[in-house]
Amino acid sequence: MKTTDQVTIIRHPLVSRDLTILRKTETDTIDFRTALGRIATILAYFALKELPLREKTISTPITTARGYEIDTDIIVVPILRAGLSLVDAIIDFVPDAKVGHLGMYRDEDTHQPVDYYSKLPNGLDEALVLLVDPMLATGGSADDAINFLKKQGANNIRFISLISAPEGLDRILKKYPDVSIITAAVDEKLNSDAFIVPGLGDAGDRYFGTE
Ligand code: PRP
Repeated sequence: MKTTDQVTIIRHPLVSRDLTILRKTETDTIDFRTALGRIATILAYFALKELPLREKTISTPITTARGYEIDTDIIVVPILRAGLSLVDAIIDFVPDAKVGHLGMYRDEDTHQPVDYYSKLPNGLDEALVLLVDPMLATGGSADDAINFLKKQGANNIRFISLISAPEGLDRILKKYPDVSIITAAVDEKLNSDAFIVPGLGDAGDRYFGTE
């Protein structure tokens, strides 16, 4: 899988180093959180790279100059729980972003997403919606979330994931050609439990210390 117009796969030495920390079984909660936090900043940087700007004349202490403001509302939507790990990095760059929440867990037997919560801000139709979840495995959760967001009016969605399986990536790319994806890694495959191989295990459990 290569970077295309629809999918950006981030290549960066710091991402390679931090992904290694995240993948290692012996990495404890503190190191897991800090490494994920650093990658989240890089993911956020790439996800916000093509933002529209509006020009504005400003006054400096010396003269007037051309300045810029971001010309779109931004709504961040984490898929609970693990998606919460990617929210702060975006809000650090865009402090006025609104945040919606979608609660979803994957049934361990059927591997299908189960919805348990949703709370979204107004203005989805006008905003750039950044849907965030560190793991894109079968793509069921992302598919469900995108479908729901579109029904609520969202029409400019970017999906940010840390690690993607080819199966999930293909599913979202094919079903939603208008949704762009930013990811830090495309792994080998899914195993029979629908876990990403080699992956890093359960991101939510490792991030929140609930293993
Ligand atoms: C994980 C992950 C995604 C989903 C990915 O969540 O964070 O939401 O599974 O799998 P899929 O692409 O096959 O749908 P999990 O069910 O572990 O819930 P959690 O975030 O509460 O830990």
